[in-house]
Amino acid sequence: MKRDFDNLVIDRIDDGRFTVHRDALRDPEIFELEMRYIFERTWIFLGLASQAPKPHDYFTAWIGRHPVVVSRDADGRLHAFLNTCRHRGALVVQHAQGNSKYHVCAYHGWSYDSAGRNIDIKDQKEGAYSASFEAENHDLVALPRFEEYRGLLFGCLDPDVHSLDDHLGEAKFFIDLVIDQSPDGVELVPGCSTYTYKANWKLQVENGMDAYHLTSTHPSFMKIVERRKSGESKNKLAALDFSLYKLRGGFTFDHGHAAVWSRNPTPEIRPLFPSLDELKKRVGDVRAEWMLNSRNLVLFPNIQFAENASLQLRTIRPLAVNLTEMKSWCLAPVGESAETREFRLRQFEDFFNSSGLATPDDTTCYEDCQTGNGARIVDWQQGYSRGITSVRKGQNEVAQTLGFRPATSQSGAHEIQDETVFHSAYREWLRLMKAGAARDAARADVRVASRVAGGA
Ligand code: FES
Ligand SMILES: [Fe+2]
Repeated sequence: MKRDFDNLVIDRIDDGRFTVHRDALRDPEIFELEMRYIFERTWIFLGLASQAPKPHDYFTAWIGRHPVVVSRDADGRLHAFLNTCRHRGALVVQHAQGNSKYHVCAYHGWSYDSAGRNIDIKDQKEGAYSASFEAENHDLVALPRFEEYRGLLFGCLDPDVHSLDDHLGEAKFFIDLVIDQSPDGVELVPGCSTYTYKANWKLQVENGMDAYHLTSTHPSFMKIVERRKSGESKNKLAALDFSLYKLRGGFTFDHGHAAVWSRNPTPEIRPLFPSLDELKKRVGDVRAEWMLNSRNLVLFPNIQFAENASLQLRTIRPLAVNLTEMKSWCLAPVGESAETREFRLRQFEDFFNSSGLATPDDTTCYEDCQTGNGARIVDWQQGYSRGITSVRKGQNEVAQTLGFRPATSQSGAHEIQDETVFHSAYREWLRLMKAGAARDAARADVRVASRVAGGA
């Protein structure tokens, strides 16, 4: 299929126009190309190094449709492999996580060690194999690229992709605000919530930065917060109160990333608040205060940190054009007190996950969008324009104070609730889709040329 992707994203911000064609969200053929051009070509978050702390620990992950296993070998080195047996393709590792010196394929028993080396082909001697088979490498296939930034592990199937450092770029400032929350970093609180929603994966990418929906999508949560404040509810759990938020902003970064923030009017309801003095000494007053602000960070294409009340990490796994799998974890500073950890977990389950008071509202709206986008004669969305006349290229004063260089900056009254923060994801989407199509076209030209040269 030959597609003109420039007809799917209109990026003319200087003329006050940015929009996305609904086919980008509903066309199964475009979804197939996204799997190849985006998920097989850019850095994909796999997990945290702390998920496999000891030799032979492992966990599984996905890069698009490629099953992956991350494993720590006997010497403590981390590896990332495609989780597919070299024999006939079965998943070699079938559990989400664990510890095992050896991984034995359940089908015909080929075995691999925790470094991915093939250590046994069942009944090899009796197999009458050829010399050429014996000479083949039978190890699990390592990811072409596997890199770490401060305990976050990323993999890429394209050996020629730019470095992870380049990929994360200036968005690292917001990652650091998460990782630096204790001298020993952060860890996943045990337990992971997995759920699916029947809509396109990019609706979650957008929602992670969408402040505009809060008052209309989550009124039940806001009413519950009011009832807790008034004493009408017996539940006294401190939760974020959107009605108090006055100042907010957002930044976009190269390679599709973006972050939004709100000045937190009630930092004392944060589990991190008791650490404020220690944080100020270690990272300085400004960064410590920013750790207590509400922040949502989206690293394109598949990872989000949401710090509204508790701190959430979630990953996005596209399954079909209209089906997405989410995983959600509570993140916490290493070494926090049991009392604070309990408070953090109560806040986390209050707001996030399929059982929380916010997530089901969101996923229901995504599904309604997917259904509504089925109205095929409506082409263009109108949802990328809030704040378009007040967005600034490069740094604003907030970014200057914080010392990083975003692609765009936005800040002001809370009511702006701008949508320009979505633009970077679609800019990167367009860049990768066009690059993928150009590569395919070049390959097709080579094939045609070789047929002509061969007289075919
Ligand atoms: S598919 Fe793994 S041993 Fe046959
Ligand atoms: Fe929401």
